[in-house]
Amino acid sequence: MATKAIVLAAGKGERMRSEIPKCMHEILGKPVLDYVLESVKEAGIEETIVVVGYKEEVIKKHFGNGYTFVTQNERKGTGHALLSCQDSLKGFNGNLIVISGDVPLISAGTLKRLSRAVEAFNSDCVLLTVCMNDPSGYGRIIRDESGVITKIQEEADAKVKELDIAEVNSGIYGFRAPAIFGYLSKVTPNNAKGEYYITSVVELMTSNGKKVDAIKLESPNESFGINTRRDLVMVTNIVRWHVLEHHMDNGVMIIDPSTTFIEQDVQIGQDTLINPYTVIRHGSKIGKGCKIGPFAHIRPGSVLSDECEIGNFVEVKNSKIGRNSRAKHLSYLGDALLGENVNIGAGTITANFDQGKKNQTIIEDGSATGCNTVLIAPVKLGKNSKTGAGAVVPKNKNVPDGDVVCGVPAKSIKGAKK
Ligand code: UD1
Ligand code: CA
Repeated sequence: MATKAIVLAAGKGERMRSEIPKCMHEILGKPVLDYVLESVKEAGIEETIVVVGYKEEVIKKHFGNGYTFVTQNERKGTGHALLSCQDSLKGFNGNLIVISGDVPLISAGTLKRLSRAVEAFNSDCVLLTVCMNDPSGYGRIIRDESGVITKIQEEADAKVKELDIAEVNSGIYGFRAPAIFGYLSKVTPNNAKGEYYITSVVELMTSNGKKVDAIKLESPNESFGINTRRDLVMVTNIVRWHVLEHHMDNGVMIIDPSTTFIEQDVQIGQDTLINPYTVIRHGSKIGKGCKIGPFAHIRPGSVLSDECEIGNFVEVKNSKIGRNSRAKHLSYLGDALLGENVNIGAGTITANFDQGKKNQTIIEDGSATGCNTVLIAPVKLGKNSKTGAGAVVPKNKNVPDGDVVCGVPAKSIKGAKK
C-alpha cells in the first residue's frame, strides 16, 4: 500500500526560549528537521508533507522545493496539526507515517519497521513506544491488566501513579488514511494545555472497540525528542561521537576526540592528523596526509588538498588550499585560492572584506608570505613571489611572478626579481 509521511514542524518550541523555530536549531551544522527528513527519505517513503506554521518562511527557504508544505495557521496542538493535512490527502487511501520534526535520531530502519507493522497488524493506528529511565516530558502509554493499550496520558494531565510508567509515546505513529481523520475530527481540547492532542485518538479508538497496536524501540536514543537546549546539547554529543567514529574508521587520526568538533558532511582523507581543539565546519573537504590543528578552525567552503598543514590559531574560510601548502601559525585565510607548495608566514591575513563585499586573494604556486603580511583583496601574488615581514599589499596591486615585495604599502625590492 502507498505510504506518505507527515512531519509536524509548526511549533515554535517555547521551551527552547528562542526566536528560531525549534526544528531549525542546528546539530553540527544541520537543522534538527533535516535529520528527520533524511531518515524519512532513506526509508523510501514516496511523498512527505511538512506541517509548518511558526516562521514557516525560514523552513521553506531552507528546504526548497522537495516537499509539500501545509500551513497550520494557528498552533492548536499536534492533533490539529495533523488534521490540517486532511485536504492535501483527499482521496489518499494508504498508510501515513506521522513523525514529530523534533526527533533527529530516528533511523530509516525504524520508520520502515513501523510502516511494515501497519500492514502486518492491518491496523488504523500503530504506536512506536519506548521505555525510558527518565520518562519525564513524554506521554505515558496506559495499558490495562492484560497489557492492551487503552490511552496515552500526557504528562500535564497524568495522575501521580501514571507518572511512574516508563513506557512512553515516541511521537512517531503509523496510521491509516482516511480513517485517522475521522478520529482526529472528534478530538477535543479537554486537557491541561487546552490543545488538540494527536494522542487523544488512542482513547477515542479503544473506547470504540478499535485495537491500537504498538511496536517497541529497543534503545531510547532514537526517539529522543528535542524540547529544550539541554536536549539539543545531549543529542549533539551523541551525533558528534558518531561523526568522529566515522572519520576514525575511514583512517583519520583524531588525537583527542573529546576536544574535536567535526560537523556534518565533512570529507577527510586517510592519514590526516587532527590535533586537539580543532573545529571543522560542515561541508569542508580535507585531503590525505594533512596536519590540522591544534586550535584550527576550518569553516564552510574550505577545500584542502593532500599534505596541507593548517596549524594553531589558523582560520580558513571558503578557501582552496593547494597540495603541500602550509599556514602553520596565527593566520586568517578567507575567500583565498592558494596554489601548491605555498608557505603562509605566521600572522598573515587576507583582508577579504571591504565593508561592502567579500573579495578574493590568489596566492600562486611556490609563493611565500612573510610574518604579519596583510593581503588586501582583491589581490594576487604571482608564482614563486614573496612578501617581507609586515608587508601590506594593497588591493589590485598584484605581485608579478618571482617578485619580492616589502613595506607599507608593499613595493618591489629592486633587483630582487629572478
Ligand atoms: C509529544 C506527544 C507526547 C510524546 C512526545 C514525544 C502530543 C500531545 N504529545 O509531546 O505524547 O511523548 O511528543 O516526543 O502530541 N507541533 C505542530 N503544531 C502544533 C503543536 C506541535 O506542528 O500545534 C509540532 C511541533 O513543532 C513538534 C511536534 O509537533 O515538532 C511535537 O510537539 P511538541 O510540543 O514537541 O510535543 P511534546 O510535548 O514533545
Ligand atoms: Ca517534543
